[in-house]
Amino acid sequence: MSMKEIIKIILDTDPGIDDAVAIGAALFDEHIDLQLITTVAGNVSVDKTTRNVLKLLDFWDKDVPVARGVSKPLVRKLENASHIHGHSGLDGYEFGNIHRMPLSKHAVEAMRDVLIESDQPITLVAIGPLTNIALLLTLYPECKKNIERIVLMGGSTSRGNYTPNAEFNIYVDPEAAKIVFESGLKIVMCGLDVTSKAMLIQENIEEIKEMNRTGNMLYSLFQHYRAGTLKTGLIMHDPCAIAYLVKPDIFTTQDCFVDIELCGAYTLGTTVVDIRGQLNKPNNATVCVDIDVAKFRTWLINTLRKAP
Ligand code: RIB
Ligand code: CA
Repeated sequence: MSMKEIIKIILDTDPGIDDAVAIGAALFDEHIDLQLITTVAGNVSVDKTTRNVLKLLDFWDKDVPVARGVSKPLVRKLENASHIHGHSGLDGYEFGNIHRMPLSKHAVEAMRDVLIESDQPITLVAIGPLTNIALLLTLYPECKKNIERIVLMGGSTSRGNYTPNAEFNIYVDPEAAKIVFESGLKIVMCGLDVTSKAMLIQENIEEIKEMNRTGNMLYSLFQHYRAGTLKTGLIMHDPCAIAYLVKPDIFTTQDCFVDIELCGAYTLGTTVVDIRGQLNKPNNATVCVDIDVAKFRTWLINTLRKAP
């Protein structure tokens, strides 16, 4: 990527410990211009995900606008992942009192306003359930012309992590995911095929710990993060979506038809990825199928090193 290329993004997130790493990478990679952060219910409630974004912006002293999003999926009841991220969603580090405030407008209105007012197309990066994004596309379809693409962490070409077949972000709001994949927008899917390989291993974690104040904070969070273990490696799901923006060449991708299973007794929330084109349907997503893990680790650690 040329030094001068800057990517304007809106980040929709449900922090979440891996979200926190992704937010840090988005804030400190020089190629990313983070225009707005919107919060969604997912890992924990939207009250907590919103508070967690504000805690992180206070920690990094960054004035990115934050808008609170939906508190539950479009149709189903909220499933959370507090067993992975802790009760607060960012267990392990005491951030102290929150000083920043979210915007008074809803996340969907905030996204619409930023998109409509932008002089160039904006990339939507979704690293939580897709409820806010689906509502934006449904309520304000006129925004689509200002959306460069949607880069999302979610789904899988094979197995799931929340159910045998479904990945958490898709499973929480499969109806929202279907709306997004049927939107006609350019979609990049960073699913478990790549994120489950994108692990920080013990030597990386020890290096991060000593790096700076950010490394020390993340190390404390990692003690409570249950996507992997400190011994076998911690899975960096959400940072993969940020990596794709600035290091697309470390990913192997395939354009495929993707749809979302909405009615299977055991398969609800499965991303059905037609890798071999057997369904004869038009491709609607660029699916990441492999990642150069060494280059991912180098990028992530070097980017976090730029933080205070
Ligand atoms: O399946 C992994 C995804 O679910 C990540 O976005 C993680 O933060 C959780 O939201
Ligand atoms: Ca997330």
